[in-house]
Amino acid sequence: MRRAKVSIIGAGHVGETIAILIAREELADVVLLDILPGIPKGKGLDIAESSAAAKFDSHIAGTSSYEEISHSDIVVVTAGLPRKPGMTREDLLKKNASIITEVAKNIKKYSPDSIVIMVTNPLDVMSYLLWKVTSFSEKKVVGQAGVLDSARFSYFIAEELDVSTEDIAALVLGGHGDSMVPLPRYTTVSGIPITELLDKETIDSLIERTRKGGDEIVNLLNKGSAYYAPAQAVYNMAESIIKDKKRILPSSCYLSGEYGLKDIFMGVPAKLGSSGVEEIIELKLKAPELASLKESAKICKEKIQIALEASAHLMGGKGKVASSATCRGGRKK
Ligand code: APR
Repeated sequence: MRRAKVSIIGAGHVGETIAILIAREELADVVLLDILPGIPKGKGLDIAESSAAAKFDSHIAGTSSYEEISHSDIVVVTAGLPRKPGMTREDLLKKNASIITEVAKNIKKYSPDSIVIMVTNPLDVMSYLLWKVTSFSEKKVVGQAGVLDSARFSYFIAEELDVSTEDIAALVLGGHGDSMVPLPRYTTVSGIPITELLDKETIDSLIERTRKGGDEIVNLLNKGSAYYAPAQAVYNMAESIIKDKKRILPSSCYLSGEYGLKDIFMGVPAKLGSSGVEEIIELKLKAPELASLKESAKICKEKIQIALEASAHLMGGKGKVASSATCRGGRKK
């Protein structure tokens, strides 16, 4: 039987960690691609050599050539630049929009049938941009944030209650960062809503820690951002797609009216299977929850507009990747 193939664009911290997880679990063969010469080949070879000691048979190869991503079942995009001194968030957004435009064109050219999982931040914006540039079906582009945010929320709850993380099912929607929308009433411990186990003040403090979860790691690391938990989140999504598990995972998906939002990627519960995003689950949100989601979408649309303008230069004209609706916004990671 042919093993699935996952190509990872960007062999930095997140990319290499995803590669190891996928290879060790024999979920797929892996191609690790980066713009830097030598690095992806070196990392790929290092992981491949570990296979003899760890006893796994997935093939892994590093490359700087897009031809090697052909026939991928999934392409994971982690390529991007971190913010440098003197660079504004808007500068970074434009720079990463240029990178994602280039990456998207290559995915379209070399692996047009793949399903893409976007990780580069701001990922709702970058998911939208990649979807526009590739003109892939909206089912075949999905962003990772909700699984990570839900994992962080679950971990903090498990720590607070001193229970196993295994029994916790948490749900976080919306954007990544300050505008995320954790849903305590849909968050349970062995089926028991956390609202019955923790007081409001404690839940609020866990939500706040979840919102700032990325910053907490950045501040501790001093250089770079989180990669173990983001990589595991991507693994879970890729596994659901490759094994057609049809798990319901909070994912950044293209919305065409769900939750009253249109022409945008936002974090919502989605069924992930072999066709990609197979269904979006629409929860009956309460007015303040819906308001938070809409606020999250507003911020996202502003960033999308900036990203589209940056991308248009590379596409040889403004109109080529114009949004389908008036857009202003994005998401932070
Ligand atoms: N094509 C391919 N790879 C590229 C390109 C490009 N045009 N531009 C940059 N890269 C590569 C870099 O060379 C680097 O190896 O992307 C990689 C990014 O890796 P890191 O800087 O280590 O960043 P990482 O921690 O992996 O995060 C990647 O994921 O979680 C998000 O916010 C995070 O957007 C960031 C992304």
